[in-house]
Amino acid sequence: MNGPVPRPGVLTIDAYVPGKSSAPEGVKVWKLSSNETPLGASPKAKAAYVAAGEKLALYPEGSSKVLRAAIASRYGLDPARLLCGAGSDELLSLLAYAYLGPGDEALHSEHGFLVYKIVTLAAGATPVAAPETNYTADVDALLAKVTDKTKLVFLANPNNPTGTYLPFDEVKRLHAGLRADILLVLDAAYAEYVRANDYESGLELVATSANVVMCRTFSKIHGLANLRLGWMVGPPAVIEALNRIRGPFNVSGPAMAAGIAAIGDEAHVAAAIAHNDRWLAWLTQELSALGLTVTPSVGNFVMVSFPPEPGRSAGDADAFLTQRGLVLRRIDAYGLPNALRLTVGPEEANQLVVKALKEFLTR
Ligand SMILES: Cc1ncc(COP(=O)(O)O)c(C=O)c1O
Repeated sequence: MNGPVPRPGVLTIDAYVPGKSSAPEGVKVWKLSSNETPLGASPKAKAAYVAAGEKLALYPEGSSKVLRAAIASRYGLDPARLLCGAGSDELLSLLAYAYLGPGDEALHSEHGFLVYKIVTLAAGATPVAAPETNYTADVDALLAKVTDKTKLVFLANPNNPTGTYLPFDEVKRLHAGLRADILLVLDAAYAEYVRANDYESGLELVATSANVVMCRTFSKIHGLANLRLGWMVGPPAVIEALNRIRGPFNVSGPAMAAGIAAIGDEAHVAAAIAHNDRWLAWLTQELSALGLTVTPSVGNFVMVSFPPEPGRSAGDADAFLTQRGLVLRRIDAYGLPNALRLTVGPEEANQLVVKALKEFLTR
């Protein structure tokens, strides 16, 4: 007898492969493969997390009420328009399950964050990729791919793994070109790091539209990746739909407590931004000076391209760096086999990467 069979689409998914964190035995590992912050979590968030340990036997409050109030007050938002989740990954899944089904299409850019494709297939719908220009989402190309079946458009801004972004004018142009029944999902996981005057995370577009949501995460600048915490702001109708299908206790109490403390620790966030400003610029400059192609990034990571020559390729560089405990991210699954993604790390790790790549290129 045949066993249970998942819905069509599920077995066509290539499961997401997280950044590796191993290197040869005895070598100190610098994990620069998951865009985590080198500053760690705020001491205030850690203390709140520990204190929450007193209540592990109790179910958490189910609507993340206090956390939503803290986020609302920080960003000037209506808490009723917020939804918290177990990482923004959960929010992306909920959006797909609520708005997509067999026969529907969800659009993303060619090298967009992989989870969009996964959640679309998981919902039984069809992911559609639009070509990029200079590793950057292309509004005209995205709009050209819209069909009667399009229900969702996912845009990571800035994008992972390329580090590029769309200026607000371009995001507005994309939105203006979409039908009112298409939901535009702005994924601003790296928004806090962006230093560009023409960037807007999505707060303004969400405030003025009925078909735009923005997802944010506590995993990146707030250093709470291990707790799984994200939030979304959107029109009341979208929030209401997702609240119907989410798990009743989708955010844990320790995560809520740590999130509230993290969002209140502005000095810690400022220190993370300052660290990133300094080392993102330094890495970009030093790696370019080695003759490597570095795609200009506004996130806390850079995409470094290598020539596809034996001995010099991204795969060779990855093996060379891993031997030295420097763990970067292969991005073949994003259609980028000739590049590696490097997270801005602590000073020592950044220096070691540049030194090792110099050695790699001159050996
Ligand atoms: C663009 C983008 N969106 C969402 C996520 C998921 O973040 P979370 O840890 O909140 O699930 C990531 C994490 O790598 C990301 O790069």
